[in-house]
This record gives sequence, structure tokens and C-alpha cells, in this order.
Amino acid sequence: MKRFFITTPIYYVNAKPHLGHAYTTTVADALARFHALLGEDVYFLTGTDEHGDKIAEAARNAGQTPKEYADAISGLFSALWPKLGITPKRFIRTTEPDHRKAVQRALQLVYDKGDIYFGEYGGHYCKGCERFLTEKELVDGLCPDHKVKPEYIAEKNYFFRMSKYQGQLLEHIKANPDFIRPRQYRNEVVSLLESGALEDLCISRPKSRLTWGIELPFDENFVTYVWFDALINYLTAVGWPDDPDFASWWGVAEHLVAKDILKPHAVFWPTMLLSLGLPLYRHLNVHGYWLVRDTKMSKSLGNVVEPLELAAKAGLSGMRYFLLREMVFGADASFTEEAFAGRFNADLANDLGNLANRSLAMTAKYFGGTLPGEGEADPADDALATLATEAVDNFVQLFGAAQFSRALEALWELVRGLNKYIDAMAPWTLAKQGRTARLATVMAHALGGLRLAAVCLLPVMPEASSTLLRQLGADPEKVCLCGPDRDFAPLPAGTTVAATSNLFPRLEAPAREAAPAAPKAAKAAKVEKKPAVRPEPAAEVEYDDFAKLDLRVGVVVSAAPVPGADRLYAVSVDIGEAAPRPVVAGLAEHFKPEDLVGRQVVLVANLKPRKLRGADSHGMILAVKHEGGMALLGPSSVVAPGGRVS
Ligand code: MSP
Repeated sequence: MKRFFITTPIYYVNAKPHLGHAYTTTVADALARFHALLGEDVYFLTGTDEHGDKIAEAARNAGQTPKEYADAISGLFSALWPKLGITPKRFIRTTEPDHRKAVQRALQLVYDKGDIYFGEYGGHYCKGCERFLTEKELVDGLCPDHKVKPEYIAEKNYFFRMSKYQGQLLEHIKANPDFIRPRQYRNEVVSLLESGALEDLCISRPKSRLTWGIELPFDENFVTYVWFDALINYLTAVGWPDDPDFASWWGVAEHLVAKDILKPHAVFWPTMLLSLGLPLYRHLNVHGYWLVRDTKMSKSLGNVVEPLELAAKAGLSGMRYFLLREMVFGADASFTEEAFAGRFNADLANDLGNLANRSLAMTAKYFGGTLPGEGEADPADDALATLATEAVDNFVQLFGAAQFSRALEALWELVRGLNKYIDAMAPWTLAKQGRTARLATVMAHALGGLRLAAVCLLPVMPEASSTLLRQLGADPEKVCLCGPDRDFAPLPAGTTVAATSNLFPRLEAPAREAAPAAPKAAKAAKVEKKPAVRPEPAAEVEYDDFAKLDLRVGVVVSAAPVPGADRLYAVSVDIGEAAPRPVVAGLAEHFKPEDLVGRQVVLVANLKPRKLRGADSHGMILAVKHEGGMALLGPSSVVAPGGRVS
């Protein structure tokens, strides 16, 4: 059985986990699930890095021993992952005895090989980075990452002959172009190695300065440098040095890190492996940073995004989808509430959610929820099958190459294609014409495509995709992305599907921040002074008069400006009739067309048709005007188009 081994960085236990840590670990989890879905045997490793200056200092500040402190913060990480749907096979801690033993073994091997020597060194030590920075790396005398002046430290220490392996590493990177990916990070490492500036690596700390670390096996007066300790975790977890199974996992190892720790992973680690005589990992996958708007996330700026808060707002699946879809792997990405709601509403509530809602509701309406089997074919069905095959092939190839946003874009070709297929095939017209055989084929194809999309989405949104698969009559535990399961097929005859889906209710877009602040405050003050407008109560009506109104729930299918009328949109609303209803509505000042499409609204369906600015209007969308703008009326959960309001 093919194997796949994926790791995240082991996180320092000097601060609580935030969205950045959650991102890397979510990506690793998605990759692990993706490879399992391809039928592979998967090892997913994460954990905590618990030794070193930083932790010792944080513990001191908290009035705890380093171990007490590490236990508490490590516990926060290990408890968070399952809450985010993340299921590692092993959570490793560098304070565990098997890891400490493996580190000492590695040090001894490298020492015995003559690759460790004792010497004196003076350098700029950055506590944040836990390493000496070279003169070249400093920007205006400061560490470019932590913006602090590193401390100049001169002391006797042990050194690893890293420079000895410079040529060999460069050759390996050149011979394996995607060893470090994406390309920009590979290029960065190649220029560093080609500049010939690689120095030897200081790998010890005298106990007089730091005791919180693993003792060198060949000198009890020193502990090992945190990176030499931490990187070895990738070997310990899969049983190095003694487990006979080690080689089969190590041979397929892939690391996942952000750009902040590129050098330790792309230079320190492979040279350590070369010295140990071990094969190099297969890929180093490097991603950018999550910024909050344009600023680095940091506790001191108070802009840290809490993963659990985000998941509580939009559901776990929404959050995981956003993280994977929004960040172009390798580049920085900006987190804002608006971007989050925008992406969620456009891709999940509108495209996927609407596709699921309407295809299930129509199957319930036309066939009582059980597909009768295919009947009449049409070339459009073959075109849909081709589109599905291409989209899934692209998705699989891109996801496996760590290009998650592009992979999801490719899959959305299928999701949008399915919505277009339904629009073009117009099941409502087929039903009206009594073409049941053709209607059955259309629904089987739409649902078959949706099922395939749901399988692909299992690694990204395990919760929502499992629910969707169950709604489609499939067992999420039994599907895979291999063999015939990966091919497009209409949903088979006799499959019973749920009547509704309702997986992704729209998120309210957060209020936009107005800039500059002063005019906003002035405006707010003005609004407060204005008395609230309370419309006069209307005259009483008899129930019979009210009952004359035919109020229906509908889904907005399209919305576009009416030429020459700033306030009006020409909207079409699906209320389960042969064709969507054209309605002219005064919504343009308050909503963008994309905010409306896919939304369920209430329509006065029996209002006498009239022409507004030259456009036909066959109904009225109900809304409430209020001081903050306008709110649309709709059902509290998704109902089939055409549902009567009474
Ligand atoms: N302990 C070392 C890693 C040792 S691995 C052998 C370490 N720990 S860390 O807690 O600082 O974690 C750094 C990692 O956290 C980044 O490489 C990245 O995976 C994740 N992130 C932390 N902040 C992040 C963002 N703002 N954005 C994206 N990822 C971020 O370095």
C-alpha cells in the first residue's frame, strides 16, 4: 500500500495557538485526508517544541517551572486540534523520553563522524528566532522578523560542520526541482547556497546560560541547541533509529511550514540528514503568512484571530474551506471579516449550498426523493460528464501538488457547471411538460455531479461533506477518490436522497469599517438625534383579504441593474414554476447582485404584473427598510422554492 507522511512544525509552547498555527495544521490534516481518500496509508504528525530560551523565559515570567508551563500550553494545542476537525496520528512532545533518546543518538552519530567540533563564536543571537543571525540578515541592526536588536554573545560552543554539505545540498535541490516548493522559496535557498555564505551551525548552549534542553551525550556541561532537538522529531515519530518500519515512512516524508522557518528546514535539516547518512525528505511545502488586514498577527497588537471563535461563527467546514481557498499557497494572505463572509456566501451559500438545496428539493418534489432511474439522454449530459472528469482530474493533481486554492477553483468549475446544467435543462419546465423520463435523467446527473464534488471536498470540509454525502444516500466512510468512485456517474436508480440540505446558511456581511473615523462618528451622532421612524399602523383587514395574497418562498436566480434606474434591479426568482419569475425590485442601493443570488426571499406572487422602466415585473420581493439600510424577508431555514407563506 502506498504511504504518505506529512508533518507540521512542532509549535513553541510560549504562546497560545492562533489562526496561523491552525492554518498549517488544517492544511496538513486536509492533505492527510486527501491521501487517505486516494487509498494510501497515511501518517500525520504534529506536536510541540518545548525546550529552549524562549520557553524557559516564558515559564519564568509565569512563575512556573518550564515543564509545568510546557504541559499547560502543549495541552492547549493538543486539545484544540480535534475541535477543528484535525486528527493527527501522533502528537509529539520534545520532552518525551523516546525523543530525548533519539536526539542524543543523532548527536553522538554526527559527533563520531567528525562533523561536530568545539570552538569559540561571537554572534548576534535573536531569542525570538532561537538562533544566531548573520550580519547580512540584520536590517538596521535589528532582527527583521522580531524587530528587536539581537544580543551579542561570545562563548565556547559545539559546532556542526554544515558548510561541508553545502555543495551536496545544492546539487540535490537542482536535481529535484520541487524538493522545495513553491518555486520562490526554492530560488531563495538556491541563492543562499550559491552565495557560498553558509557557515557552520552552533548547536550547543552552555548549561551556565540554559539548562532547559537535552544534554549533549559527549559533554554534560552543554545542552543541545533547540533546532537540533526539534527537527529530529520528524524521525523520532516514525521510529528512528530502531523501528523496522521507519524507512518506509521516512522515504515518503513531506514537511509543511511557513516561510519564517524556511532556513532551518531547507538548510539545517537536510545537512543534518546528510551527515546522519539518511535520505532527504521528499518535499518541503512552504506557505506565506496570514496577515490581519495588512498587519502581522500579534498578541501585542491585539489582532490575533482565535480559530475557535471563527469556527463558531461560520462552522468548522466554512472556516476550513476559507483557509484553503483564500490563501494562494506560498503567498501571504489577508484575513478580514468581509473577505471571510464574502467567500463563504459566494462559494458555499450561493454556489454549492444552492446547488444542493435546489437539486434535493426538486428530487423530493418530482420523485418523492427516490430516483426512478435514467430515461431520455441529451448531449448536454455527456458535456457535463466531460466537465466533471476534467474538473476532478485537475482538482486531484493540484491538491496533491499543494496548490489548494487552485485545486478548489478547478473543482468549482464543476459546482458552477452543475448549476448551469440545471438552469439550462430547466427541470421545472420538464415537469410541467410531463417529460418524466428526461427529468429523471437530469436529476440523476445533477445529483451524481454533486456527489462527486462532495467526495472531493471531504478532505477540505470533512463535516459538511459527510453530511452532504449522507443526504445523497452515500456512506462517507466508504467513498474514495480511486477506481470507479473517482469517475463521474449519474446517481443510480433507487437512491433515496434527503428533501433539503441547508448546509451553508448565508452569513450576514459584517458592517464595513468607514474611514476616516471622524466623519463616521459625526454621522453616527446625527443619526442618534433623529427620532426613530415608526410607521402609522395600517387599517385592519379581514382574514379573507389577507388570504387573497399568494406569498411564496423563492430563490433569487439572477439580479442585474435596470438601465437608467439607479435603485432598481431586474431580478429573477425561482418559485418552483416553469420558469423563474421576472421581478423589478428597488434593491440596488442596498445589495450587490452577488449578495442576492442564491438567497431565499418572500415574493408576493399574485400581484398584478406591471411594467417598471420598461421591464416586466411579476411580483414583489418583501423587505424592511430600517435606519441601517434594508433587510430582506426569508424563511429561517431553507425550504423548497414555491413554498407557500401562510
Ligand atoms: N518550534 C518551531 C518549529 C520547529 S519545527 C521542527 C517554530 N514554532 S512556532 O510556534 O513559531 O511555529 C511557527 C509556525 O507556525 C509557522 O511556520 C507556521 O506554520 C505557523 N504560523 C505561525 N504564525 C503564522 C501566520 N501568521 N501565518 C501562517 N502561519 C503561521 O517555529
